[in-house]
Amino acid sequence: MATASTQIRKREAFGSRNVFILSAIGSAVGLGNIWRFPYVAYEGGGGAFLIPYLCALLTAGIPLLFLDYSIGHRFRGSAPLAFRRMHRAAEPLGWWQVLICVVIAVYYAVIVAWAAMYTWFSAQLTWGEGNEEGFFFTDFLQSADVAEVGVSTDFVPQVGLPLLVVWLAVIVIMALGVKRGIGIANLVLMPLLTLMFIVLVVQALFLPGALEGLNAFFAPNWEALADPAVWASAYGHIFFSLSVAFGIMVTYSSYLKRKTDLTGSGLVVAFANSGFEVLAGIGVFAALGFMAQVQATDVAGVATSGIGLAFVAFPTIVSQAVGGSIIGVLFFGALVFAGVTSMISILEVIVAALQDKLGWGRVRTTLTVSVPLAVISMALFSTTTALTVLDTADAFVNSFGIMAVALVAVIVVAWLLHKLPTLQAHLNGRSSFRVGVIWKVLVAGLVPVVLGYLFVTELMAKISEPYSGYPTWFLAIFGWGMVIGLVVLALLLSLLPWSGRSRAKDDPEYDDFLSDEHYDPDPETDTVRTVAPERGGTS
Ligand code: ALA
Repeated sequence: MATASTQIRKREAFGSRNVFILSAIGSAVGLGNIWRFPYVAYEGGGGAFLIPYLCALLTAGIPLLFLDYSIGHRFRGSAPLAFRRMHRAAEPLGWWQVLICVVIAVYYAVIVAWAAMYTWFSAQLTWGEGNEEGFFFTDFLQSADVAEVGVSTDFVPQVGLPLLVVWLAVIVIMALGVKRGIGIANLVLMPLLTLMFIVLVVQALFLPGALEGLNAFFAPNWEALADPAVWASAYGHIFFSLSVAFGIMVTYSSYLKRKTDLTGSGLVVAFANSGFEVLAGIGVFAALGFMAQVQATDVAGVATSGIGLAFVAFPTIVSQAVGGSIIGVLFFGALVFAGVTSMISILEVIVAALQDKLGWGRVRTTLTVSVPLAVISMALFSTTTALTVLDTADAFVNSFGIMAVALVAVIVVAWLLHKLPTLQAHLNGRSSFRVGVIWKVLVAGLVPVVLGYLFVTELMAKISEPYSGYPTWFLAIFGWGMVIGLVVLALLLSLLPWSGRSRAKDDPEYDDFLSDEHYDPDPETDTVRTVAPERGGTS
């Protein structure tokens, strides 16, 4: 217990549990929901995909979301601090997650910047009818081939300037802190996003051909269920979509009060996120149904994934539909809002980690983290080779890196440190939905098996042929180099001493947090007991 004379540095906190829930939904609902899910579902068997998707959500997504919440809340820290408090040797895991967020943040901002420009272009149909593909790749991105020009430094102003604006906006939000910055941004943007999304989907449903699109999206292809790759893609999708396993939910839950319903909040977040995804699928495929009808082809002929869907197919729909500009503004505006609320959660993982490690204030840490990241983001992604760098970083660090860190984290937490009983007791000590032995079996058993399978499959695929046919030197730097570099750097960062003012060294607030006698039920008996403050090393 902190003595009266001890100065308690209060950890920042969300204004209320509802703001936390909204912020967690804001983090989860992002680019992954809007442009990734519809195509993943369509390719994975349409209506039949709902089965692997629900299995992935219930057996991996939600259990890992609970795990993240329990780690962040129980150990009350950013990812490195929470893992360190769990066990001193586990600190590198936290830094690994932080570094994954560094990579994702620098390219996530670029897609938000593109979407911002396309919101503007939509209002005027700037791309001109019939030239949507050429406009995006040639006129807008001015894409060049890395095999021919190497990594270019040619600045593309129409990307660079909105990118700068996106960074300035998120830096202001971050500098304002958890309550006044992140909380308020989500409080404003999430209702707006929901409203825009509903209007967009309703408008898309009234387009001619929408029904054909929905048929294509929902028609079940049961044979797909026999394909392990479809199950793998459902599990692969759920991690990024729910923002689990890369530090975000650990960090956000560390800003919750002691007595908070963790699992109840988690269920709301998970189902809201899935609701958005399914809604996005309906909206996107209704619009693709319209596009197919106009082009006198079938939906399979126009359905495409990710960047092609958002920046080529959607502009085509905008050009052709009556009231297309409104559809465009709503779609790209929704991408911007969903992107910004996810982007700030990704950045918060990094800012919180350095704040905890160095004991610095919010503004100083935000500027120290964000300004260099903004510079790197602009240097790499406002150039003519941005698309290739982005695609590679996404394929290696996002798909592959998140899976790897999730796999190692569950093995360490469940098998090496045996922390699941403590975390289970922590969840059950304060939540409306109690987790039982099934949760432990899923986290310690099923999740590592699925992740192990996914990891090996991804590894084999990436080793067997050069990703997307990109040059070997390029993949060595931006693919493999990045993935391995992050692990090495994470180990090095964990070796750096925690500064005198850091929370790992001296955090009376954490002692106080632990010392409440109603705090911690005994993991074995589930009865309330008083716990001695647990301190995670003092290097
Ligand atoms: N969960 C966020 C997304 O789906 C990161 O984009």
